[in-house]
Amino acid sequence: MVVYLIGFMGCGKSTLGKQLARKMLLSFIDMDSYIEERESMTVPEIFEKRGEPYFREVERAALSELSAKHNVVIATGGGVAAAKGNIEFMNSTGVTIYLKMNSGVLLSRITNSKSVRPIFTGKSKEEAFEIIEKMLLEREPFYERATAVVEGKDIKVNELIDKIKEVNIW
Ligand code: S3P
Repeated sequence: MVVYLIGFMGCGKSTLGKQLARKMLLSFIDMDSYIEERESMTVPEIFEKRGEPYFREVERAALSELSAKHNVVIATGGGVAAAKGNIEFMNSTGVTIYLKMNSGVLLSRITNSKSVRPIFTGKSKEEAFEIIEKMLLEREPFYERATAVVEGKDIKVNELIDKIKEVNIW
């Protein structure tokens, strides 16, 4: 089985994904790390040197490659589910879980995070909040098409496993 964790930057896909994989005895793949290895560049470097459209193409290719894996939890980048056709593709090749969080919580998690996210580089807190609100508005219709939508704030890994069992036939 393939479990795709989807949702906005900072919603906890990688942290929860690792815990989930450990508990479900599945492997774990972080899509951003997979891309960084594949391209021999960090995500910020890809954005800077090759541009965002190139990064989105690489994401699509990585998704197609990773979908062929078995018994894996995949933490997708925040933009993956929102690119044309990707949510349908993930829903047809596995189970998608949207870790939903409001923009206020996302802002504090993103601003307190060590991860470098090119979309927020050089932005003030106010600007970052506006960006989050705008992007969430655009992306939520895609995220909401997940197999299951869970409130990401304070969710425990066991609750997530129960949810997956509820929606999955494995
Ligand atoms: C992005 C999310 C990031 C990373 C890139 C772009 C996005 O991943 O793929 O910086 O467009 O939402 P995380 O969601 O893991 O931060």
